[in-house]
Amino acid sequence: MPASKIAGVGMYVPANVFTNEDLKKYMDTSDEWIQERTGIKERRYAHRTEETTTTMAVEAAKIAIERARTTAQDIDFIIFATLSPDYYFPGCGVLVQRAMKMKEIGALDIRNQCSGFVYALSVADQFIKTGMYKNILVIGSEKHSFGLDFTTRGRNISVIFGDGAGAVVLQPTTDIGKGILSTHLHSDGNSAEILAMYNPGTHANYWMEDKVANFDDAEMGQMFMSHAMIDDAQNFPNMDGPSVFKKAVVKFPEVIVESLTANGLATKDINLLIPHQANLRIAQFVQQKLQLTDEQVYNNIQHYGNTTAASVPIALCEAWEKGKIKEGDLVCLAAFGSGFTWASALLRW
Ligand code: UT7
Repeated sequence: MPASKIAGVGMYVPANVFTNEDLKKYMDTSDEWIQERTGIKERRYAHRTEETTTTMAVEAAKIAIERARTTAQDIDFIIFATLSPDYYFPGCGVLVQRAMKMKEIGALDIRNQCSGFVYALSVADQFIKTGMYKNILVIGSEKHSFGLDFTTRGRNISVIFGDGAGAVVLQPTTDIGKGILSTHLHSDGNSAEILAMYNPGTHANYWMEDKVANFDDAEMGQMFMSHAMIDDAQNFPNMDGPSVFKKAVVKFPEVIVESLTANGLATKDINLLIPHQANLRIAQFVQQKLQLTDEQVYNNIQHYGNTTAASVPIALCEAWEKGKIKEGDLVCLAAFGSGFTWASALLRW
């Protein structure tokens, strides 16, 4: 059975840099607060009309495909992870297939938020191992700036997120011990609503006792997204930040150690850990808990913010471009986020 390897990696971030100072024009916040709590100095925001989650993905994909020494026409499957798709449906996978003039290949969309890319990589890995596909394009891309609450009400979330895209091409390898060694996926839906965007959705607030919706006939057709929901800011993401933080600092180390144990390896063997860029404080906590050195952990949240499904492939691409990942290195990708879902992938480069 062949293993799969990352044959090419690419990233794209919009040119528009939005600093913490820029955010102060919209909400009551400060550079000091944001840097102290999250480590973020600036993030990128997509052009309002000319850039979408898909267009950014296409730019990242072009680079990944070229580096994999293949062509868009040779890609035989697309897996696209995002929480900010161009359309509620169809997903972004088919939009990439169209934009890149690919063959009529399968296109799968993944909805696992911050761990979306690692989940997508795991799915791609299985298809390569079974021999079903030989050139899979795996993408994580987000245009958060289009759907954040830029008033003080939404500041705990809005200051964190940024836009961008990352992509890899996965191919089979016969090099023994190289490529993806294992992937590990987890979920716990008990806290699904503490980091969530509730609408548009079909839940009718059944889980919020004080907000049970009583739709009358006049509202038929507006139950997915009504004026009342917008007035109540239910079209923006919600997050109980401290609860997410507490769970993240437990599950991140757990899933990293799980991947090492599965392969008979230890934290000292990691050449580079690329954690999902949720919050620099979380990454530092994980680093400390696992007793990793600064050289063993790659962070770039300072410049891009939290780009959710795009954060791992963007960080992977940047680290690779800087020469921080060399042939034979042990690389660990790990993510935690909404769902909750968390995941890791251990790779021998
Ligand atoms: O990638 C998806 C997964 N998400 C995460 O991993 C996020 C995990 N959570 C976090 O990163 C942190 O909880 C945050 C960075 C979101 C928030 O930091 P915190 O230290 O947990 O702050 P907090 O939510 O407990 O709020 C502390 C105070 C509050 O004021 P009071 O009630 O103490 O007066 C907030 O209203 O900070 C206030 N606050 C802000 N102040 C200035 C919240 N957001 C802001 C802001 N600027 N942007």
